[in-house]
Amino acid sequence: MARRRTDKFRWRHKHLLGLRDLRRGEIEHILDTAEGFEEISTRSIKKAPVLRGKVVVNMFFEDSTRTRNSFTLAANRLSADVIEFTKTASSVSKGETLIDTARNLEAMGIDIVVIRHGAGGAPKLVSRSINACVVNAGDGFNEHPTQALLDVYTIRKVCGGFEGLKVGIVGDIAHSRVARSNIWALSKLGAQVILIGPPTLMPSCVEQLPVRVSYSLDAVLEELDVINMLRIQFERLGGNPFPSVREYSHFFGLTVDRMKRAKPDLVVMHPGPINRGLEIESEVADGPNSVILQQVAHGLAVRMAVLFLVHQAAIEEQREHRQKHRG
Ligand code: NCD
Repeated sequence: MARRRTDKFRWRHKHLLGLRDLRRGEIEHILDTAEGFEEISTRSIKKAPVLRGKVVVNMFFEDSTRTRNSFTLAANRLSADVIEFTKTASSVSKGETLIDTARNLEAMGIDIVVIRHGAGGAPKLVSRSINACVVNAGDGFNEHPTQALLDVYTIRKVCGGFEGLKVGIVGDIAHSRVARSNIWALSKLGAQVILIGPPTLMPSCVEQLPVRVSYSLDAVLEELDVINMLRIQFERLGGNPFPSVREYSHFFGLTVDRMKRAKPDLVVMHPGPINRGLEIESEVADGPNSVILQQVAHGLAVRMAVLFLVHQAAIEEQREHRQKHRG
């Protein structure tokens, strides 16, 4: 079982924009904090007063089922008030800029902005424009830190740790913020990451990433302890990266047949939404090796931990600021 390090680190980040710049100990601190919050979900009254009187705004400029509802529930469980912002029902459709929108929401007294945006870097831009905490819920192809945190949280629970673990990430790596955040988290935690997919779906700078690359799933399947199947991001594709969907499934789909050749305890993951029959067969997605719904359940505890930690860092920053101006 992984050792708890909660007391060792003082979390100092009032924003969570990505995992690339976090240290191993900081990632472990989030996971340890999430473990504490998981217990709340087992109580009959599933609430803690950690963010009572605070306001969280969910600013989603892209569609979402899991991430959005998970952040809403996480904020509710911490007793915060939640504002749901949707692009189409807002003044963004009248031409208001992202920064103006964020500043106007901040003027109402919000404490934490959770933002998903199609442009990489949008959460960072917002974090520089307002005083509230900013949490990235997915920005373009860049990062999706809470998804990767819930993925590594799940791996740690199921596998007990990361040393010597081989994790395959399969499919549309080029357009996947989930893959990018997973690469940073897993490599820092000590796992070996193998990116698997056709050359057309690999990012252009793949040799600069701390990963191994395989253009064949069958060549590495038997080595893997964990496999994370990505959705093809059709909405982000320009042109045809492979001849046909059937051919993609044939070479890179996780099928019942492939599962017979894999390690018997291979852990099967998917960030959702699943395209059944394309990247993964239904029997595998719903089968005994799948932890897909556990990932979703863990997302709640991980997001509670993130909201709690960024808010604590903001309180600490205010305290230090007051002290400096007094002294
Ligand atoms: C992912 C996303 O939006 O990046 N989904 C998610 O947050 N669970 C992956 C995807 O859309 O394929």
